[in-house]
Amino acid sequence: MKNKLFFTRPFFLLTAAILGVCSAANAADAVHYSPTQKAWFLETEHTTYVVGVNENGELQNMYWGEKLTRDEDLAPAHSNPEWASFDSSATTTNLEYPGWGGRLYTEPSLKVTLADGVRDLVLKYDSQQIEGNTLRLTCKDIKYNLTVTLIYRVYPEEDIIRKSSTIENHTKQVVTLESAQSGVWYLPRNEQYRLTYAAGRWAGEDQLQQEPIRQGKVVLESRRGNTSHQLYPWFAIDKGGSADQQHGQVWFGALGWSGNWKMVVEETPMHQVRITGGYNDFDFSYPLKPGEHLDTPEYYAGYSDGGFGGVSNSLYRLELNEILPDHEHPHVRPVLYNSWEATEFSVDEAGQKTLAEKAAKIGVERFVMDDGWFGARNNDHAGLGDWVVNKQKFPNGLGPLIRYVNQLGMDFGLWFEPEMVNPDSDLYRKHPDWAMHFPGRPRSEARNQLVLNMARDDVRDYIFNAIDKMLSENNIKFIKWDMNRHFSEPGWPEVPIAEQKEIWIKYVRNVYDIMDRLRQKHPGLEIESCSGGGGRVDLGVLKRTDEVWTSDNTEALDRLKIQEGFTYAYSPKVMMAWVTDVPNFNGRSTPLKFRFLVAMQGSLGIGANLNKWSPEEFDLATKMISYYKSIRETVQMGNLYRLFSPREGEFTANEYVARDGKQAVVFAFLHSQQFRNPMPAVHLRGLDANAIYRVKTIDDKLVEKHETYSGSYLMNHGIEFNLTGDYDSTAVTFERQ
Ligand code: GLA
Repeated sequence: MKNKLFFTRPFFLLTAAILGVCSAANAADAVHYSPTQKAWFLETEHTTYVVGVNENGELQNMYWGEKLTRDEDLAPAHSNPEWASFDSSATTTNLEYPGWGGRLYTEPSLKVTLADGVRDLVLKYDSQQIEGNTLRLTCKDIKYNLTVTLIYRVYPEEDIIRKSSTIENHTKQVVTLESAQSGVWYLPRNEQYRLTYAAGRWAGEDQLQQEPIRQGKVVLESRRGNTSHQLYPWFAIDKGGSADQQHGQVWFGALGWSGNWKMVVEETPMHQVRITGGYNDFDFSYPLKPGEHLDTPEYYAGYSDGGFGGVSNSLYRLELNEILPDHEHPHVRPVLYNSWEATEFSVDEAGQKTLAEKAAKIGVERFVMDDGWFGARNNDHAGLGDWVVNKQKFPNGLGPLIRYVNQLGMDFGLWFEPEMVNPDSDLYRKHPDWAMHFPGRPRSEARNQLVLNMARDDVRDYIFNAIDKMLSENNIKFIKWDMNRHFSEPGWPEVPIAEQKEIWIKYVRNVYDIMDRLRQKHPGLEIESCSGGGGRVDLGVLKRTDEVWTSDNTEALDRLKIQEGFTYAYSPKVMMAWVTDVPNFNGRSTPLKFRFLVAMQGSLGIGANLNKWSPEEFDLATKMISYYKSIRETVQMGNLYRLFSPREGEFTANEYVARDGKQAVVFAFLHSQQFRNPMPAVHLRGLDANAIYRVKTIDDKLVEKHETYSGSYLMNHGIEFNLTGDYDSTAVTFERQ
């Protein structure tokens, strides 16, 4: 396969010439090589990324940003001289994938120990391969036959490039990897930048953070075994610290890995900002035997001159067009009901049927039974690991309930927490060694449970078979896949000591493997990724899950902020948002309408106890769900424009515009009015200035009473809402005529 001179460029040039569109030599290619510059140009619709070989044979980043129109303008790669005896050329040059060796003092992309004790790695360019939108550049150490292939995939329409690497041991002895990164991104040097990222905790996910980048490092990471809600694996960096939702140059990136990850945002002494990312090197050691290789996580990044809104909409396109399991045939998410907050562990056939009837009446399309249906699971002290139906609660199995749900016109989903075991379970009594542990050491429990060592193939197979059996015997269309604690004592005593730290990677691979195999064997199966709320959200898990649980905190005012942070990087389509009962988190009570409108900005679910609802509440819910169905394609698959942020005042407004521009929806929320502050004018965005839009309101909160408006009026003059008091809200739809 690998060929030093393998190009598809002539084919592209020929096609372009035939079509008569070859104005610039490189216009049609997403990837091309320029022999004059000894450089590869990666082109998206609006951006250019260039990597070249310098005079030392090293791969060097030459450019990343706004589109360049002429290759010739760029001089061939040339390494920078050392600055002083303290700052070597390796540190002052933008090496595309620096091994730790020589005088490298910046964050390395790869660090190894060789069998003879050598810990020096100097990578030089060896060969290339271009195949469609994918470029592979292989480098090799100057002495040892250790190779690294840098893999670039270009997504032209999304303005995104994906990097990853494959590290291969062709030597005759074991090579131990101590840091294995997907790659590093370089920003234009000597500029002032601001970093934006999301941090959080259980029930307080996705809180946006912003800070100027200064010399030094900011480390975003998880050491918890999964992605975690502590920090999220994405970054956005704007030039000058002045970007807003619509304007400003922003470079951004996101990792696809659901285990320990790390991103290092580093400003070097030469004022070069570089963002390394990949596996976390904490407690990391990965021995490669002769012939073995390791693939690093996929690291996506892009550039937008359209501010943070531009970044989000690029990422949504990537997720919807390329990443989500249904990307080839996208469909809207169904309206879901989940029984957790209504019944908690007290599930049984009669109780679930009653809830299902009520859910069906208001327009729910999927009924999900949560925790409590299996093993001896009457509370959170027992049962995890025993994935068989509890006979006291369901004497006839799940069949009668599922058939009933199906007859009501809904499909059926079920909760699992596959990676966990309660010490009080048949599984643990039979296989205590299957829980992660160090022999003779304490096993820390959290929520009364231990983490199964999913890195073991026998554990993986047990879990696959248990879920597969449930899916084969029952008409289950959806799994809520939960994970309610993080790793502790991550021992793997059954394998040689040198291999025990592979647990961090092999665990995640096996979780992915189970999800992939279940989907393959049960076509049409959908999965939700949940980890005590939004603790496992990343572009790796999104390849095999259709939605994620955003937060266990469903309190509507808190949700406005959580959802804002979530949607910086992840599409509203995957953002599960439930309407639940009040008083809720913080002891707060908000009106049902407010709760509905907050939740309708993502993928709508109902998690309330329907047994307690009044006829008026059922009536409102029915209307709201029906309205949601008329706008959900726009919300889930369109572009999002944040008009007023919940972080910046007492008023929040978000606008969603359908991809084809035919519909726009504005949601507006007043948190708690003070001083009778007048409502600000809301200027819409993303409309066609010359088009006419017909207005549809759900209430009388829109001050303007015309039936139609021009796009130019809506965007330039703006509209006003007469919201007052606490937790007032509205939504307006605009249909292009
Ligand atoms: C986690 C989830 C909840 C619910 C419970 C069940 O907390 O986030 O939605 O499924 O577990 O135990």
